[in-house]
Amino acid sequence: MERAQVGIVGAGPAGLLLSHLLSLRGIDSVLVENRSREYCEARQRAGLLEQGTVNLLREVGLNERMDKEGLDHGGIYLQFAGERHHLDFRDLTGRSVTIWAQTEIVKDLIKARLAADADLNFETTDVSVADLDTTVPKLRFADKSGRRHEVACDVIAGCDGFHGICRESIPHGLLSVAERGYPYSWLGILASVAPSTDELIYCRHENGFALHSMRSPHIGRLYLQVPADEDIADWPDDRIWAELQRRFALPGWDLKEGPIAEKAISPMRSFVAAPMRYGRLFLAGDAAHIVPPTGAKGLNLAIADVSLLASALVRLLADGDPKPADAYSDECLRRVWRATHFSWWMTSMLHIEPGQDSFGAELQLSQLRYVTTSRAAATTLAENYTGFYNN
Ligand code: FAD
Ligand code: PHB
Repeated sequence: MERAQVGIVGAGPAGLLLSHLLSLRGIDSVLVENRSREYCEARQRAGLLEQGTVNLLREVGLNERMDKEGLDHGGIYLQFAGERHHLDFRDLTGRSVTIWAQTEIVKDLIKARLAADADLNFETTDVSVADLDTTVPKLRFADKSGRRHEVACDVIAGCDGFHGICRESIPHGLLSVAERGYPYSWLGILASVAPSTDELIYCRHENGFALHSMRSPHIGRLYLQVPADEDIADWPDDRIWAELQRRFALPGWDLKEGPIAEKAISPMRSFVAAPMRYGRLFLAGDAAHIVPPTGAKGLNLAIADVSLLASALVRLLADGDPKPADAYSDECLRRVWRATHFSWWMTSMLHIEPGQDSFGAELQLSQLRYVTTSRAAATTLAENYTGFYNN
């Protein structure tokens, strides 16, 4: 049997960063991932980092490209009823956010881990965890060549996303789950065109929500609300641009179009499993909680979880102090529920429910007018968006 202090399942941002943070503090880990390195590095997902996330990446030496190529944004635009309003986060909270893609963070992390000779295993199969209620939990998997491994660990970290196996390995009845589905999805595109805006535009339109984000001065990232069961085959590129033009239209402003490099539809869900621990298994990131992307919180929460978890595991494994590990779940869940409320609130304010009546529409418009005219309301949005617990 092999041996590692920490067994990590999943090479998303949570699992990779955890293995990096642990190694900086002298704790070894083995990481297993069922996809290929290329797939993990190319998967298009989040793009917006809270200041606390940026600070953490700087502290642990993952900032060189982010500082050069990341885009500092001091606010967002909210658009509704033919008006576009700017919210100035720097003025309201003294904080800003950074556009830096999850794919780039994952690339930098994999490079740093491989340079440190980390035990990273891509394209594994048959991953399972066992003996979680003992002090020697086991991580089992078959490597790329089919060879079977059993690793005796002190702790296992379930960083394997919403569809992973770790959460499901907790005995039935011990986890409580709180969730909401939404009757719509996001169609996201990556387009080879300079963004038509300096900062993100969140837009409520009678046809549905639209978001103009970006990845660089040359690449736009845009989203459209579409029905939950929509088929991407029904959205040829010219239909996507026509709908984006319709929703973002404002006199005197142009939405520039360009070739669409990628397009995909993602479902929307809120989901929180508690506690985020069973015995020597700790859950982090999407394995424990999912938010709809309207608040841009998913990646930031995953990174905040593993920052706390790394410190707790160092205390547990190096100093024999179990208190921070015992407090891990409650401490994470306070932040998770704040982000869950904020993401649900932003989503409800900006999306059109199927069959929405005038009562629902007027409530949304009134809320948007309030947020864009009251400094108190704008500050509430700004302090949540820039990270209430994560600065
Ligand atoms: P993940 O990134 O999901 O990583 C989990 C890893 O575990 C994956 O690499 C997976 O392959 C691996 N894995 C799963 N099962 C196993 C197994 N059995 N064995 C081994 N490995 C396994 N957030 C935003 O803020 N903005 C967005 O625009 C946005 N868009 C998103 C689009 C999509 C399609 C999805 C799914 C999420 C999106 N998110 C977005 C959320 C954000 O990307 C996630 O919150 C973030 O990826 C969480 O990181 P993680 O490491 O916890 O999980
Ligand atoms: C993104 O750039 O992908 C992005 C930004 C903000 C969001 C969601 C997604 O709220």
